[in-house]
Amino acid sequence: MRDGASLKKSFLEELTKAASLTEIQQIRVKYLGKKGLLTSELKTLSTLPAEERRSFGKLINELKELIESEIASKESALSQEDLRKRLVSEAIDITLPGKYTPIGKEHPINKVLREITEIFVTMGFGVEEGPEVELDYYNFEALNMPKNHPARDMQDTFYITEDTVLRTHTSPVQIRGMEKRKPPLRFIVPGKVYRCDADITHTPMFHQVEGLMVDTDISFSDLKGVLEMFIHKMFSPETPVRFRPSFFPFTEPSAEVDIGCIFCKGGGCQVCKGSGWLEILGAGMVNPRVFEMVGYDPEVYTGFAFGMGVERITMLKYSIDDIRLFYENDIRFLRQF
Ligand code: DAH
Repeated sequence: MRDGASLKKSFLEELTKAASLTEIQQIRVKYLGKKGLLTSELKTLSTLPAEERRSFGKLINELKELIESEIASKESALSQEDLRKRLVSEAIDITLPGKYTPIGKEHPINKVLREITEIFVTMGFGVEEGPEVELDYYNFEALNMPKNHPARDMQDTFYITEDTVLRTHTSPVQIRGMEKRKPPLRFIVPGKVYRCDADITHTPMFHQVEGLMVDTDISFSDLKGVLEMFIHKMFSPETPVRFRPSFFPFTEPSAEVDIGCIFCKGGGCQVCKGSGWLEILGAGMVNPRVFEMVGYDPEVYTGFAFGMGVERITMLKYSIDDIRLFYENDIRFLRQF
């Protein structure tokens, strides 16, 4: 090599053919690498006569600069091209419809259970839970329903063994709560209950909320006040409330509580069977016998209790005419709440 023309020529030919960054890199190594063509030319510099060194050195430097700048511009051209190709091939069509992800909804029963709980919690009630597989003792005996008591027939019971049942109401948790602590106490018990019954207003499993308040001077007017407050928050502040005498073995006196029919506003319709009233819960003053069962002195303590069906309240609140809709898992039904 003397004028560098052939080296320059072959370099330029190779660079023109190079189609990728790796190929360019190989060319760089071939010419400028430690054992590269230009590098070995440079090594011959010291063997040259002094008068030739200067011009040869200059030539080598010019070639080196040329190679470097050609490589740099080819590299940038290639990466521009690469970017352009990727922009085309990876383009996102923002006009395509998005992927639909269905979102779940809170079940209406859970929603109403939560609302009921919130109302009582703001009135200072705690929340208790108890077992769904319950001893006959708590489900019946301690609630003043001894074996063979006719009131047991009001609840179609699923028996597990002779003295274990699927609880037929949440009332047994009254007893468990009173055994655990001493008055004053007030709590509600939301939960599942079971009865061998099925039609448009009954399912074998449904939900109840029990309530209990015990202290030294609880009266029927406390019961009325608490339940009226609850009903007015749950339905509307104008809803009429009526207490009707009734019977439950665990309360004395007992009452059933009605609200003015929310469909006909008291005028009489199919839902209220013409009466203008809808029954929504049972309640009463805790029977002294129940206090005796948990070792509370009935001469010292008084209390009230109540129990309501959550499905019934939900059906009334949302005008649902068939209880089975709650358990069919039809998303079109569940989405409406
Ligand atoms: N346990 C009753 C039932 O399931 C509802 C009930 C009525 C609960 C009166 C009470 C009450 O605490 O005082 O039918």
